[in-house]
Amino acid sequence: MARLEGKVAVVTGAGRGIGREIAMLMASEGAKVVVNDLGGNTDGTGTTMIADDVANEIKALGGEAVGNTDSVAEVSGGEGILKTAIDNFGQLDILVNNAGILRDRTIFKMEESDWDAVMAVHLKGHYCCSRPFARYIRENNHTGARIINFSSVSGLYGNFGQANYGAAKAGIAGFSRVLALELAKYACTVNTISPGALTRMTIPLREGRGETVGDSEIEQSGPQHIAPIVAWLATDEAAGISAEIFHTGYGGVSIMQQPAVIKQFKKKDGVWSLDELDKIVPQLLEAKKANEAAAKEAGAPIEV
Ligand SMILES: NC(=O)c1ccc[n+]([C@@H]2O[C@H](COP(=O)([O-])OP(=O)(O)OC[C@H]3O[C@@H](n4cnc5c(N)ncnc54)[C@H](O)[C@@H]3O)[C@@H](O)[C@H]2O)c1
Repeated sequence: MARLEGKVAVVTGAGRGIGREIAMLMASEGAKVVVNDLGGNTDGTGTTMIADDVANEIKALGGEAVGNTDSVAEVSGGEGILKTAIDNFGQLDILVNNAGILRDRTIFKMEESDWDAVMAVHLKGHYCCSRPFARYIRENNHTGARIINFSSVSGLYGNFGQANYGAAKAGIAGFSRVLALELAKYACTVNTISPGALTRMTIPLREGRGETVGDSEIEQSGPQHIAPIVAWLATDEAAGISAEIFHTGYGGVSIMQQPAVIKQFKKKDGVWSLDELDKIVPQLLEAKKANEAAAKEAGAPIEV
């Protein structure tokens, strides 16, 4: 039996790349899908009608889908996406906030427009699409919904030349943790994906380093490898799993650590002196190093 039968899903940025694979897999698992994409260039400029192409592909395979070209970066766009789901399929159960762009520059060269465009699509885009869905959930007392957000190691670890993107992607992880708390009452889970896949967003970065990306590598490491954990998180089997970050791609599925205190000194009276901190900070750094080494060992891939 298809695992998403009776569910309606919105996948943003589903005209290509990771979003397209998620839309196709969810549809093949029985979900009715709103394929959202304004069909822009990687830097967010331009528009094309690729959302309809993917919706038509799904229909040609016997599934149900509708295209939508609203921008996730606008409040009216997020509302339009929800309306498309309700008008066409009568409900919404799953929101995948996947749409994204890049404007890579070091801080020395980053213009305000580069900062604003990336923040608008990624961080504000998550807000624009999630708020109408959250309100819909509350107004209809709709339980068991799913929100799946897209972060990146760029924000979770840091990546040179991506201060705008990294800040937005780290913000999305924080946004997801708060939403998970606020929507728990409605048994709506909110999880975050940190993907790694060869798409038009990442292939040029590899090629820029002088590497060639062939078909066999795309088969091994393409966006199709991201879709399964996203679709699984939308199933009934994933009920109760919330506020987690799953890193996936290149054949791996992993769960990531969340920020947590790993060692602490507490002063009984008074304020820390700088001389005391001379002694304590190196011990904190040592504890962090040991924690990282243990996490690295525990996180080594297990072949299955
Ligand atoms: N590919 C990776 O390795 C990787 C790594 C980390 C994070 N991500 C994240 O995964 C998501 C998907 O990335 P991808 O690699 O498939 O990229 P992609 O460029 O192939 O697809 C992104 C899609 O989002 C659409 N989009 C952009 N702005 C939009 C807007 N305002 N409204 C609606 N649609 C819009 C684009 O038209 C595009 O089709 C992004 O959020 C990206 O930041 C990808």
